[in-house]
Amino acid sequence: MDRGRGRDAMKGQRILLLGGSGYLGAQIDSCLRASQEHEVVATCFSGMIQPGWTRVNVKAAEAFAALVSAASPDVLIWALRGNDGADAQELIDIGMRVLLAHIPKQAKLIYLSTDGVFGNKQGPFTEEEEWELLDERNPLAGYCRAKIMGEQLVREQHDHHLILRFGPIYGKNVQGIWDKRTKALVSELQEGRGVVRTQNLYKSFVHVEDLGRAVAELVTSSHKGTLHLGPEEKASYYTFCRSMAKDFGYDPELVHGEILSAEKARELGISA
Ligand SMILES: NC(=O)c1ccc[n+]([C@@H]2O[C@H](COP(=O)([O-])OP(=O)(O)OC[C@H]3O[C@@H](n4cnc5c(N)ncnc54)[C@H](OP(=O)(O)O)[C@@H]3O)[C@@H](O)[C@H]2O)c1
Repeated sequence: MDRGRGRDAMKGQRILLLGGSGYLGAQIDSCLRASQEHEVVATCFSGMIQPGWTRVNVKAAEAFAALVSAASPDVLIWALRGNDGADAQELIDIGMRVLLAHIPKQAKLIYLSTDGVFGNKQGPFTEEEEWELLDERNPLAGYCRAKIMGEQLVREQHDHHLILRFGPIYGKNVQGIWDKRTKALVSELQEGRGVVRTQNLYKSFVHVEDLGRAVAELVTSSHKGTLHLGPEEKASYYTFCRSMAKDFGYDPELVHGEILSAEKARELGISA
């Protein structure tokens, strides 16, 4: 690719997409390639490799450093997620540090973060809201701590960055893969079983196609700093699951509501 000469400053970017084999990553990969404007290299780790992808373990420091240096991207997208809290922390401690040491200074770094950085705070959140650690009893505590640390490193060490925060992703992605929440719901309903979902816990559920398109558009935007992405309306887990049940042709009455008590929420590490 002719880098620089006669190139529109924003179009025709050389993009390194880390986590192209993931649920959201595959959607972003497809959106980026659809425009045929960019040169995209996407990565997979344990998944099946596809044309235009390369395999990398970002925790293998030397190999990962070589990949970032060789790719010399204009834009680098971090769409990685660890298997658990400890793995998520290693992705940051090793992978993110290697990335920050080798990314070209002028390259744009898009770091996909989460609304989980707000711990047990009640939304809606502005981009200026302070982060908060989740209670250690919450199974997502380690993952969210790692995401916060990732944000901090990116902010401190790479000026040209865009941190994107969003809530739970849902929907069928370009590879036909559904989010885990919907998959679990549908498998219960298929078995003829009713389910119980919480009525007083709210999230900004975002569709995978909308998010993939938004991230791809932001590649060529001049936005910098931190940005929240999602719908205007929040929904409870109960409302969300009733709506998904209906979309799949099941009776929404099979989704029963429950109110989570303050005591139970504390036990689960969901509230202070
Ligand atoms: N899903 C959600 O509801 C949600 C909500 C908020 C924020 N996010 C954020 O959105 C991003 C994408 O999430 P997702 O749900 O699409 O994740 P995902 O489906 O679990 O995909 C994770 C990606 O990370 C790769 N990966 C894992 N360990 C790696 C390693 N050691 N070296 C290199 N690659 C590695 C995986 O590769 P293989 O599959 O090939 O192993 C995969 O491509 C993440 O940053 C996540 O924190 C997700």
